[in-house]
Amino acid sequence: MTDDAAWWRSAVIYQVYIRSFADADGDGTGDVAGLHSRLDHLAELGVDAIWINPWYPSPLNDAGYDVSDYRALDPRFGTLDGAAALIAAAHERGLRVVLDIVPNHTSSEHPWFRDALAGRHRDRYVFRDSGDEPPNDWKAMFGGPAWTRVPDGQWYLHLFDVTQPDLNWQNPEVRADFEETLRFWFDRGVDGFRIDVANSLVKEDGLPDVGERGQHDPGPHPHWDRDEVHDIYREWRRIADSYDPPRVFVAEAWVPEADRFARYLRPDELHTAFNFDFLKAPWLAPALRTSIERTLREHAAVGAPPTWVLSNHDVARHVSRLARDPRARIDSSLDSLLGVPADLELGTRRARAAALLIFALPGGAYVYQGDELGLPEVEDLPEEVLDDPTWQRSGHTERGRDGCRVPIPWAGDAPPFGFGPEGTKPWLPQPAWFSGYTAEREAADPGSMLALYRRALRLRRELPALGDGPLTWLDVPEGALGFAREPGFALLLNLDAEPFAPPAGAEVVLVSGPLTDDGLVPRDTAVWLTNR
Ligand code: NOJ
Repeated sequence: MTDDAAWWRSAVIYQVYIRSFADADGDGTGDVAGLHSRLDHLAELGVDAIWINPWYPSPLNDAGYDVSDYRALDPRFGTLDGAAALIAAAHERGLRVVLDIVPNHTSSEHPWFRDALAGRHRDRYVFRDSGDEPPNDWKAMFGGPAWTRVPDGQWYLHLFDVTQPDLNWQNPEVRADFEETLRFWFDRGVDGFRIDVANSLVKEDGLPDVGERGQHDPGPHPHWDRDEVHDIYREWRRIADSYDPPRVFVAEAWVPEADRFARYLRPDELHTAFNFDFLKAPWLAPALRTSIERTLREHAAVGAPPTWVLSNHDVARHVSRLARDPRARIDSSLDSLLGVPADLELGTRRARAAALLIFALPGGAYVYQGDELGLPEVEDLPEEVLDDPTWQRSGHTERGRDGCRVPIPWAGDAPPFGFGPEGTKPWLPQPAWFSGYTAEREAADPGSMLALYRRALRLRRELPALGDGPLTWLDVPEGALGFAREPGFALLLNLDAEPFAPPAGAEVVLVSGPLTDDGLVPRDTAVWLTNR
């Protein structure tokens, strides 16, 4: 591991959705021992760090984002000793470890909420008297009202599932407890945290109605992006900075206004944030360029490095999104893709080009487990296995996010594809076609997505131009993108232009797909060039 304290400015971070990564004990759920056994895959891939989705004790009503104890592991995932061994083993391989912290809400199984239900310390949560009607018109993210009534007549707030009561961040006890949790894991060698719904936490005094305002609408909102939330992160930053080496944060913050978003990344607050604007941009040159420029501008204003994300555990896998017409009315959810014709070969070609784009852009990048295998979304999971609360809370009208959470295929020709020992029944069923995407198969195929990711990440480490730093746009045909990075690097990406020639004299060091017979860059293809 490099001892560079600014590692996070250029890091490629691999997201481990632990439940679906690798299952050592064969109970169908991924675990720490499974992840430990697959660390070499990640080291060979060439990433700098891993971010592990919540592994804490949880009823798993929202796949672990409903935490009942922040300082332990769910026995299904492992033990504290196992976690310590994993952290040490990751560090030995030069991989840093980032955990996921969920400060907006706990599980309803958390001892605090049980106490609250028994009538004690309700001020750790948001309880209100309000007769037979909920205290306001707020809606839960998974559908239905954001308030539920308890038997003695009070209502409690839950912006997500009914089993995820919102904490009251005006209560100093809540603040102190989270600071203790940060220290608990930092003391155990954890290098940083991803902060779940970092733009929530603080609610407007008086809890006024939200009216017609949507989450992504600009302007003040009673429970998103309140100014006071920044005080919390300033305190967290002081704690992270008190460690040697300093620990880091990445914010999950869906904040639509660039200047509001950038406030989370001021030098005394959080280090980085996921770039969802880019994730949502359609595969069209003007849209991508606008998103990239906006990203660079807003981050430069606060001196923070951008991050580039194609997929995560909340969106449909990008191979499947890119398989659709970029002008179709789709967003990042599986539900928006269903019924829109898909060409997976095209989606894969574009995903290869997209990978070369994100690894060449300034700053850091995220790889969601399975991206490196080019896994498509599983769009047709049987309804009876759907586990995402969205499915229940939408009254079975939205399938939700399970299609990107299907356990990873590692090897072999039939389920469980090496996810667990022979005979393991994965918690979500793997389709037969996963046999075409196993890590084993792709490792043996120089034309695979895995081979491309490995080559790109190796080159990214070798080429001093890549990672943090500026870019200069190049003059390229309409429908294409091109930029230079110093010293001596350029990326060309043809989305929708006639095939065009790379500049004379430049050396092609990596391509996402074949060039034409005349050496031109065809559609849906990216090229890395050096000029040394
Ligand atoms: C964002 C997480 O990524 C998502 O999976 C979760 O459902 C919500 N936050 C609620 O914690």
